[in-house]
Amino acid sequence: MSQAKRYLLTGASSGIGEALARELANRGYDLVLAARRIDDLKLLAEELSNKHGRKILALPLDVTDFAAAQAIIGQASEALGGLDGVIANAGIAMSSKVGSGHFDNDKRVIETNLTGAIASLDTATRLFLQQGHGHLVALASVAGKVGLPGNAGYSASKFGLVGYMRTLQSEVTRKGIDCSLLLPGFIDTPLNRDMKSRPFVISVERGAELIADHIENRRSFAYVPGWPWALLAPLLSLLPPSLLGKYF
Ligand code: NAI
Repeated sequence: MSQAKRYLLTGASSGIGEALARELANRGYDLVLAARRIDDLKLLAEELSNKHGRKILALPLDVTDFAAAQAIIGQASEALGGLDGVIANAGIAMSSKVGSGHFDNDKRVIETNLTGAIASLDTATRLFLQQGHGHLVALASVAGKVGLPGNAGYSASKFGLVGYMRTLQSEVTRKGIDCSLLLPGFIDTPLNRDMKSRPFVISVERGAELIADHIENRRSFAYVPGWPWALLAPLLSLLPPSLLGKYF
């Protein structure tokens, strides 16, 4: 198997991260799985390692501990004997209307989805520039293109991640480093199971399969699934916010 498949995956203990770990292990990747629930992660790593005969390890990580989110890059590289890619997937969602007294929720969402992701991506970029190759993958969201009423903090974190990745792409693509900015619509996971409406929702297995395809093809930008979001998200982003607020 090619040595270009040693990846760190954050937020691998549930939802998309867990399904993606299963999908990538099946495709021959060596992985470091990182999240807070280390006992669940160890069980998953052991299961996948036994099943696929790959090097799959679990490391504890809270991405809001920014020093730890930076240090995990070196730890993953050491554990796998080198690092070819990082998938910034860890994320949370907390709904609340602006002005309802939930600033702390917004702060936590931004620290997890944006600052925590940047901490790892920045350190990985440094390593990849030194070694002359690498792949930076970020899970943003359609909510990073269209403001989701009732989820301003979440949308802000994903708009921020989109802006960060677009800028990063412009800085590193001619230096041997690939960037993949992936924007899921609705994928069935614990993150959104309480939502009243999940238009065009797909299963987590299908979502992980599509995401793994984009990672393998090193797609620079993709909605997940492509249909209908590649058409709908740009259209929705042109709607006046007053209309979005009325209908969503
Ligand atoms: P999930 O709730 O099932 O999984 C999130 C993962 O992130 C879990 O492993 C959790 O432990 C981990 N995590 C949360 N906070 C963390 C922290 N401080 N440190 C380390 N790990 C942490 O959610 P899901 O749906 O799998 O989400 C994965 C990513 O995909 C998130 O970034 C989310 O915003 C994004 N996304 C998901 C969509 C969906 O429809 N499920 C749609 C658009 C984007």
